[in-house]
Amino acid sequence: MPKIHLLSEELINKIAAGEVIERPASVVKELVENSLDAGSTSIIVNIEDSGKKLIRVRDNGEGMDEEDARNSVLRHATSKIQKEEDLFAIATLGFRGEALASIAAVSKLSILTKQQQTREGFNLIVEGGSVVSSSVIPTERGTTIEVHNLFFNTPARKKFLKTDSVELRHIIDVVTHYALLHPLVSFKLFHGGNQLLHAPVIENARDNIASIYGVHVAKDLLEISYTDETTSISGFISTPYTVRNDRQQQVLFVNNRWVRSEEITNAVYKAYHSLLFVNKHPLFVLHLHLDSCAIDVNVHPQKSEIKIEQKEQVCFSVEKAVKETLQKNNLIPLVDVEFERQMQFRPVVKKSVQKNDGKYTFEQSKQEVFHVKEESPDQSAKASLPLVLGNNILPLPRSFPIMRILGQIHKTFFVAETQGGAYFIDQHAAQERVLYEQFMGQFMKEKVEVQYLLQGEIIEFLPGEKELVEDGKEVLERFGFFLEPFGEKTFLLKTVPLIFGRVQQPDFFYEVLTFLKEGKEKILERKEEIVTRMACRSAVMAGEVLTIQQMEAIINDLAKTELPYACPHGRPTLFKISAEELEKKFRRKG
Ligand SMILES: Nc1ncnc2c1ncn2[C@@H]1O[C@H](COP(=O)(O)OP(=O)(O)O)[C@@H](O)[C@H]1O
Ligand SMILES: [Mg+2]
Repeated sequence: MPKIHLLSEELINKIAAGEVIERPASVVKELVENSLDAGSTSIIVNIEDSGKKLIRVRDNGEGMDEEDARNSVLRHATSKIQKEEDLFAIATLGFRGEALASIAAVSKLSILTKQQQTREGFNLIVEGGSVVSSSVIPTERGTTIEVHNLFFNTPARKKFLKTDSVELRHIIDVVTHYALLHPLVSFKLFHGGNQLLHAPVIENARDNIASIYGVHVAKDLLEISYTDETTSISGFISTPYTVRNDRQQQVLFVNNRWVRSEEITNAVYKAYHSLLFVNKHPLFVLHLHLDSCAIDVNVHPQKSEIKIEQKEQVCFSVEKAVKETLQKNNLIPLVDVEFERQMQFRPVVKKSVQKNDGKYTFEQSKQEVFHVKEESPDQSAKASLPLVLGNNILPLPRSFPIMRILGQIHKTFFVAETQGGAYFIDQHAAQERVLYEQFMGQFMKEKVEVQYLLQGEIIEFLPGEKELVEDGKEVLERFGFFLEPFGEKTFLLKTVPLIFGRVQQPDFFYEVLTFLKEGKEKILERKEEIVTRMACRSAVMAGEVLTIQQMEAIINDLAKTELPYACPHGRPTLFKISAEELEKKFRRKG
């Protein structure tokens, strides 16, 4: 008996759906693309339960007649291309004719559509790929597509969906991107009846961005306008000072198609070069226009990846365009910034520092050689040593070495005399350890001490972030961030964790928010990483001048930590040079 048979149309569609429809956001993307292809000027997206229960996209485009509506859910049925040549000059977003068929295969789909010239509309309901009902009913011009119970018949796919907030985030991204790309189309996005995005028709590109990303962000953007033989580039980039903690606001359009390209993104980063600090990301909304023969959009079922001929040339153009824009706006005093950064990490010794003005006090009487067994700065040494600081001897039952701070060198290290030698302490690493443990202690007891901000900081949210904050309220409060609703797109940050009070307040909040985007559960799993980052950012930096009292306070706190000898990143906080080594160096001893 032959073992090969052709698959049923239904099964084929279900298989194809696996490629095209990965998650609720893929449905939103395909439906919005269809609405745009139909020439709509208003697109309203309604979502229930992060798209799992319902996705409804309503447009005012050209609509379909009954026959087209019936055909639209068939595989490889499209009005957008006809012959092979068309494939090489695709002007519409869709062309594969498989989106609706795929969606229909894995959901309960309803199409309600009416063309301008007809009096009545047509409604078709398809369940798991088969038409279950159809009727003629009155409606407005345009098309409304409803997708109920997505993946109801593909439980495996359903299981792989991320948390609701992650799926919603993807949907928001899709609508945001199309709203950015089409300022002349009005977009609205609702989730459970709440409006998440409203981008009305706005001709001015910067104002359009303002309606989506907020006025605050838009006002600092730099406009790009660049053309060479192969590429023309327009759009906006952020200044190096208004960067973000994540890559969410990086949008790339090639010939009016939203695409992802690591190479082009890297070219943008290259242009910023040293202007960007570690873990900071520029915002960009770039429109690239290439000869349509130079790109192939038909390489991926989701059409989000494209092939670009002469990619290197295009990357080069992007880098140049961004660089020129930064230069034009006087944002590349590259040498100075480099210099400043070097100052932070490898401070340049200034003459005046070397001279010293009596800060490095040193008592004659202490200058004797001790012959004491070397203690290694590790955990095992923790048993016996009392702590001495400044001139007050504190016989603590702790295991931290006795030392007397002598001063600071290169505004980066402390030097201290100790029994049998001298300690060198990294001021940043030491305080990092202190802040990390202090905060962790409070955090684990769920008693994070907070500092009240007198007036509160106004936090402006991006679409969807408000829901994220409401949803993650408890987690944020555990970290010491109490917020109050304040206007439609804003919150008032009332408190911040006391221990990290040194740093610009909202900065931290935004960092924690970035982690929250990955899900409420993740944030607790990754608390070490978050707290390490917070500690790192608020600890004294290399290059900061400290008084002896301040140094003593840090050492005092360090002595109270569980693991005083390494910072939370695992780098040493202090090491010792023994008197014996010194003797050898001075050849006092053989
Ligand atoms: N919102 C809409 N308005 C008008 N026509 C639509 C709409 N959505 C789908 N169609 C029609 O249905 C066809 C099939 O859509 P789809 O499966 O997404 O394939 P494609 O977009 O690749 O052609 C489209 O070619 C178009 O003619
Ligand atoms: Mg389509």
